[in-house]
Amino acid sequence: MFMPVATQASLKGLTPKQLEDTSCRLCLNNTYHLGLKPGQKTLDAIGGAHRLQSWPHNILTDSGGFQMVSLLKLSRVTEDGVRFLSPHDGSPMLLTPEHSISLQNSIGSDIIMQLDDVIATTSPDHERIKEAMYRSVRWLDRCIAAHEKPESQNLFCIIQGGLDLELRKECCAEMVARDTHGIAIGGLSGGEAKDAFCKVVGTCTQLLPERKPRYVMGVGYPEDILVCVALGADMFDCVWPTRTARFGNAVTVDGVFNLRHANYAYDFRPVEEGCKCTCCRPQEEGGLGITRAYIHHVAAKETAGAHLLSMHNVHYLLELMRKAREAIVEERYPAFLKEYFLKLYAGDK
Ligand code: GUN
Ligand code: ZN
Repeated sequence: MFMPVATQASLKGLTPKQLEDTSCRLCLNNTYHLGLKPGQKTLDAIGGAHRLQSWPHNILTDSGGFQMVSLLKLSRVTEDGVRFLSPHDGSPMLLTPEHSISLQNSIGSDIIMQLDDVIATTSPDHERIKEAMYRSVRWLDRCIAAHEKPESQNLFCIIQGGLDLELRKECCAEMVARDTHGIAIGGLSGGEAKDAFCKVVGTCTQLLPERKPRYVMGVGYPEDILVCVALGADMFDCVWPTRTARFGNAVTVDGVFNLRHANYAYDFRPVEEGCKCTCCRPQEEGGLGITRAYIHHVAAKETAGAHLLSMHNVHYLLELMRKAREAIVEERYPAFLKEYFLKLYAGDK
């Protein structure tokens, strides 16, 4: 499955109802962002993030550490947690495993993530990568101990260890022994070579229990997702479909194309022919019947173009995953994968 990212309890540009219409039933929120605003008091008063965003379906929250490290230059990790300066008033703050879990308990997300120590796979500091792996295991223990709603919120661990396969194997053994509801593979999609990326995913999935979900965090492009599925992974999230929509890009079976290009000014076809998303579906069938020419017309100045493309792009990824699941159930995934790559790279455009 693919989970669209709604960082601030909102997928940029889409209402919860529009997100529901893409067929999304599990989206991602962020503990760090929701903890800052609206904050824990408001979340408790309102009864959690489902109520906050009127979202009757599932929510997964990332624990927050990764966002601080990637967003804030001034964050520093110690054994206690992640220290950072508040982006609101610059005051020093500390996100501990216990605080992250407490916030996620207030958010009430269906899947919650452990706080982990994330180092870019491209870091040359092997000792630091090793320290981060062991620290993530220790933080998992603190998260398990702090979790107040294990019967209603599923805690996932996060495997770390950079590109070192021995560290990854050791981390898998430690974390699998702690028996969380699901297991994530973290620290990837930071610009490492695809070959090294695949070796990490394949090494981990081989060591994980068959019947627990495996979630590769922050991935990604359709090609990477489909390869990870072949390697035995189940869940993915990425801002890419919505971010690229804001640049005027449409994601389709024939690849990605930019509707700001002058070619599309007189193109009165839907974004993708035959697509059943709200944006592309004809008005007679309850859709919006939007044309490429319309998006071309509004894409440069108006946010409406980005919203419409977000609907299409998210729907595209969810539909791709539906087809992948169908192929797996019918035991024809290898053929499905080959066909996908052939169409993408050798198909006539
Ligand atoms: N998002 C993408 N990669 C990661 C990771 O390694 N850890 C966490 N917590 N979130 C992520
Ligand atoms: Zn569409």
